[in-house]
Amino acid sequence: MKTLHLKASVPGDLETAAQILRRGGTAAIPTETVYGLAANALDPQAVAKIFEAKGRPQDNPLIVHVSSFEEIAPLISGTDERLKLLADNFWPGPLTVIMKKSDKIPAAVSAGLDTVAIRMPSHPAAREIIRLCGCPLAAPSANTSGKPSPTDAERVIEDMEGRIDAVVDGGPCGVGVESTVITLAADVPTILRPGGVTPSQLEAVLGRVEISHAVFENLRKGESAQSPGMKYKHYAPNAKVTLIKSDFATFERYVKAQKKPVCAVCFDGEGKNFETAVEYGAENDKAEQARRIFEALREVDETGCEEAFVRSPEPEGIGLAVYNRLLRAAAFRELKLDFGIPVYGLTGQTGSGKGEVGRILTERGFCVIDTDALAREVIAYDRVLAELKEMFGGDIESGGVINRALIAERAFSSPGNTARLNSVMHPEITLLAAERIHLAEQEGKKAAFIDAPVLFETALPVICKKIICVTAPADIRTKRIMARDGISESEARLRMSAQKSEEEYTVKSDYIINNSGGIYETEKAVDEIIREESL
Ligand code: TXA
Ligand code: MG
Repeated sequence: MKTLHLKASVPGDLETAAQILRRGGTAAIPTETVYGLAANALDPQAVAKIFEAKGRPQDNPLIVHVSSFEEIAPLISGTDERLKLLADNFWPGPLTVIMKKSDKIPAAVSAGLDTVAIRMPSHPAAREIIRLCGCPLAAPSANTSGKPSPTDAERVIEDMEGRIDAVVDGGPCGVGVESTVITLAADVPTILRPGGVTPSQLEAVLGRVEISHAVFENLRKGESAQSPGMKYKHYAPNAKVTLIKSDFATFERYVKAQKKPVCAVCFDGEGKNFETAVEYGAENDKAEQARRIFEALREVDETGCEEAFVRSPEPEGIGLAVYNRLLRAAAFRELKLDFGIPVYGLTGQTGSGKGEVGRILTERGFCVIDTDALAREVIAYDRVLAELKEMFGGDIESGGVINRALIAERAFSSPGNTARLNSVMHPEITLLAAERIHLAEQEGKKAAFIDAPVLFETALPVICKKIICVTAPADIRTKRIMARDGISESEARLRMSAQKSEEEYTVKSDYIINNSGGIYETEKAVDEIIREESL
């Protein structure tokens, strides 16, 4: 199929686009939010072409676009005072309203639901095309399903060239994130997707408005989506994305502590501090962040980095929409490094007795986070297990039982495999550790200690105020390991030789606890640190 390149500014081009649409074809059109991939909403065959071109799952319904309020009545069943209120206040504009549908709406558009999503865009070209067509237009964002939405015609062409009949270039989109989706089909009007119209603007008109929890978190297991689009991975570049909530200094240190090249996605003026960076607007300009975020996500892949860390935006006003899109792009991975209590690292060679120090700290009322225990938790996550199976073979799990010994055997068979295991596990352990620290903070703990034998091989030192290293002479450690794990002296020595030397631990640590004496000496050393740190 040849894709016709049209321009909103060229006389006659809008009529050409309308003609294509009237005849059952597809055309990407500019709107004030993002580009839409349009077809006649009342023609099931035309609508089928949208799903085909986007690779969109059939159960994800489409928004129906109109150019005047009068066009809506035949599309919905019944009337609703609130629809008129919303229309008067926000239409034409970036708001989509879900209502009970009429029989005129084909099942393909509503994906079998008994509701329909209606929107009246404000972009003059979009309005003119709908008017010229004389029919409502179904139009999802004009991206390949799952990718960031396109905010200019070039990005549409990148995804859709040869797959649709025409693209109408109307310049860059003014809003940049998709419309706010609100349903009036629920008891209380509920925002299913934040967008250009903010929750407080809606509350000012409707009174009480709820925000679906799916805006902030993954659907719970077995839960069906209020809005089917919320269940898919979305807006994502190919690179793995993680959001970081922190000040810039912490963000910078965390990104630089990564062991491989990564892309920093940050605010204007911050990019120069990194080898590879993409900026997405000034820190305090949420409207600009909205305009630029999708383009920034597409640029991430052009850097060639396999991983990106994004500065979390403030989720206020239209910033909530930016935050929601980024959360989705990150598969809800957000690392919140804005701790209100000090965090300490606790490390040392195997058999040094870190565990003992941890127990003392727990007794003193501090939060101690055992990363070995966290590893056992994260390995059972669906997303982690899926990645590990790809790396080490599907047989690492059978009948719901994870074979840790087999994972360890395969992962430790070569340094390359060990690194691959770590690249999956360490970020997840860090995410969970951060969650636990925030929990400790809520519980009123004064400090958190992260017990990690491989602390220095991860990015965890970045979040640690100070690092405590526990040491003990080799012969004592050997005996402890033999007793603890029931193994022979040669096996114990083999394990110890696989670790870094004592000096490699101590030079990077702020405190060293020599744990070769009795428990009393160790307790004294711990209490000394507590005093020193005024904890
Ligand atoms: O700004 C926008 O809304 C853009 C422009 C092109 O108008 N369109 C857009 O469409 O973002 P799309 O298909 O990418 O997103 C539509 C969202 C999806 O999450 C879909 O599941 C939801 O709206 N949706 C559509 N109809 C629905 C319905 N009847 N009930 C619940 N959710 C619905
Ligand atoms: Mg979309």
